[in-house]
Amino acid sequence: MCVQFCAAMERDTIFVRRHPLLPAVLMVLAAVARCGSALAGNAIGIGASNASAEITEPPQALVGVAGSSLDLPCNITAPTIDDSVALVLWYKDESTTPLYSLDARRGQLEQARHAASDLLGGRAYLSITHRPSTLRLKPLLEEDEGQYRCRVDFKKARTRNFDVILTVVVPPKKPVIMDQNGELFHSLIGPYNEGDRLFLVCETEGGKPTPTLTWWRESVLLDDSYEVSSEGVVRNEIEITSLQRHDLMAVFTCQASNNNLTVPVSKYVTVDMNFRPLEVSIEGNRRPLSANSPVELVCRATGSRPPATITWWKGNTKMKRTKERISIDGYVTTSILIFTPTSEDSGKYLSCRAENPLIPGSAIEDGWKLDINYVPQLTLRLGSKLRHAHIQENNDVYFECNIRASPWVSEIGWKFEDRELHTNTTNGVIVSNQSLVLQKVQRSSRGKYTCTATNSEGTGESNDVFLRVQFAPLCKAGQKIIYGAARHEAVRVVCEVEADPREVSFKWQFNNTAESLEVVTFVNEGATSTATYIPRTEFDYGTLLCWGTNIVGSQIEPCIYTIVPADNVWQVTFSPVLIVLISIVVGLVFVAMVVVLTMKCRTRNDRHKGQILPRKAYKLQPGLGKEEDSNENGKSPGEEKGPDIIPDVSIPSEQSAEEGLDKQFLSDAASLQLMGVNGLGQTITTISRPRQMELEPEATLRDYSHITPQKRVKVLPMDETGSLHRPYVKNIQTDV
Ligand SMILES: *[C@@H]1O[C@H](CO)[C@@H](O)[C@H](O)[C@H]1NC(C)=O
Ligand SMILES: *[C@@H]1O[C@H](CO)[C@@H](O)[C@H](O)[C@H]1NC(C)=O
Ligand SMILES: *[C@@H]1O[C@H](CO)[C@@H](O)[C@H](O)[C@H]1NC(C)=O
Ligand SMILES: *[C@@H]1O[C@H](CO)[C@@H](O)[C@H](O)[C@H]1NC(C)=O
Ligand SMILES: *[C@@H]1O[C@H](CO)[C@@H](O)[C@H](O)[C@H]1NC(C)=O
Repeated sequence: MCVQFCAAMERDTIFVRRHPLLPAVLMVLAAVARCGSALAGNAIGIGASNASAEITEPPQALVGVAGSSLDLPCNITAPTIDDSVALVLWYKDESTTPLYSLDARRGQLEQARHAASDLLGGRAYLSITHRPSTLRLKPLLEEDEGQYRCRVDFKKARTRNFDVILTVVVPPKKPVIMDQNGELFHSLIGPYNEGDRLFLVCETEGGKPTPTLTWWRESVLLDDSYEVSSEGVVRNEIEITSLQRHDLMAVFTCQASNNNLTVPVSKYVTVDMNFRPLEVSIEGNRRPLSANSPVELVCRATGSRPPATITWWKGNTKMKRTKERISIDGYVTTSILIFTPTSEDSGKYLSCRAENPLIPGSAIEDGWKLDINYVPQLTLRLGSKLRHAHIQENNDVYFECNIRASPWVSEIGWKFEDRELHTNTTNGVIVSNQSLVLQKVQRSSRGKYTCTATNSEGTGESNDVFLRVQFAPLCKAGQKIIYGAARHEAVRVVCEVEADPREVSFKWQFNNTAESLEVVTFVNEGATSTATYIPRTEFDYGTLLCWGTNIVGSQIEPCIYTIVPADNVWQVTFSPVLIVLISIVVGLVFVAMVVVLTMKCRTRNDRHKGQILPRKAYKLQPGLGKEEDSNENGKSPGEEKGPDIIPDVSIPSEQSAEEGLDKQFLSDAASLQLMGVNGLGQTITTISRPRQMELEPEATLRDYSHITPQKRVKVLPMDETGSLHRPYVKNIQTDV
């Protein structure tokens, strides 16, 4: 038997680690063995009792947990109705002193006396109301383990013994979880990155029997291979070589247990993790953008924990106007970029980058090459071989229009001074898509040129290019062209020309009917020249001509200025219409006068037929009929008539009219030209043969005399050949 038992012992020790309750069982077996030998060897430990008169029930094994309560059973029910309990005694182990006693020998069981040993220290009470009765130990201590015997003495029946073999288990202490360095972990650990190694150590100490220490992930057993150190510390380690996304918030529990009566003690940790973003994309399709119109682009990143941060980049430049939004579950980050593209952005790479800042190198990006549509951008310039400073009349000129556009332009146009320009070979304009050719440019081609181009985004216009065509001087329109000057009076004649370049040299010339002289007294200033001219004789009145010359060439048509005597300026500058009117009036007056005179003469002739008339009639007749006579007898009639004439001409001059008159000449003269200046400054000229003086030229003068009576009469004697003799001036007094 012992051999078998020992063998069993040997065998069982192998299981000790796995089944902590086995030692208790073994003890029970050992107790059974001992009990057997006790029975054989006739009672050990039940004092002085008569063994033969007693009944000993087979022993009962119990397991209790230290710290809780435990009921040790003992059947005190009498086998017969008429019997009752007298005395109940509890013993422990080999002790002969009862641990607890219930004495009902003196009366009813209900009034029985309870007595407990000091060892129990008030922790025990025998309850007789239970069936079977129990000795309750509360709290149960580790040292309560042992063999108990309940001895029940009845009043009549034989004494009965109940053996209980009590095993006390002590639960282990709460385990602790730490890393390999002994740093304790609390409930939430991490955060770890994907791929990190997780190493967890669980330790517990205490407990009887030695507890098992297991690792669990939720309800799955991960590891039950624990070690027990010499100090009684139980340790179990687990390692997860590479944490994955699914390990987020995994709960790893370490559980220590050495009985099935109490809930195992455990400790758990929850794993927190960081994730790199998985996906990033710019939403919407990749369409060309319009320059200068703001566009909203949305980028979405998923899979990052904590949420990804999104940045936008244009090439290597970080963009600023962005708004970020995070979904409620925290896995989706959305970023909105408000972006106003410019034409310069065309071809640049726009990207959206999502990154978990806690995981270096976790950035991922999505992007596209920008395709920007914009209004054509034009640059106009003169053809490469041309220089603005050197374009002269009749040169060929061309412009080049440089175009940047996306999409490409559909139409190119040209403008000159804001008017559209088309090909016109008659005036030498050739438009050929990106260039404009002007053949034989003229001064009229001077001005502002632009090119325009149109695409789907709109129409762009280039810068202005001012085409300067250099030209030879031309007389400027609207100048003063008539200058009046008195004799010996200096007159400043201004000659203004248009020219490019305006550095102009001038030449002046004076023309009158007889001669042409170069004028040298002038001053040039740019495109203006001022000549100072002094007419000294009447022959110095005439026209002044002026020519300008610049590097392009000389003026073809000169500027012409007329110099007139100062008194006459008025008349010349008078409107031609008025001159015509005045001429008509004068003509009419003259005709009327002739008619009146003719009528008078007829009347006289009729009245005085054959009579020799006084001087007027006399004069009229020879004047009309004896022209040749007067010519033949020129001197003598002239002498006679001289005094006659002068009063006629100088009319009723009270002064000596003939004073200064060359009487001799007058008698010889074929005609007399009388010139008077009237109050308007007009010159009235009358040419008369001496004998015609009777035609009362004073009447002509008189017409104007009402303005001012003072006259100057210039007498211009003219002979038959028409050549003038020395003129002279008389002041005359009209008789008004
Ligand atoms: C207690 O003993 C009585 C008398 O022998 C018996 O009838 C009863 O069944 C026993 N009770 C228990 C719980 O064993
Ligand atoms: C407790 O363990 C013991 C021994 O291993 C076994 O006999 C008993 O049935 C178990 N009790 C429960 C409730 O599992
Ligand atoms: C070409 O230019 C000439 C002169 O300026 C003009 O008379 C003519 O109408 C133009 N032709 C066209 C087709 O525009
Ligand atoms: C100008 O137009 C012609 C046809 O219209 C085309 O073949 C040529 O390529 C164009 N030139 C430029 C520089 O666009
Ligand atoms: C000026 O005189 C010159 C030489 O006599 C002559 O050739 C020219 O035509 C004259 N000009 C004008 C405007 O009368």
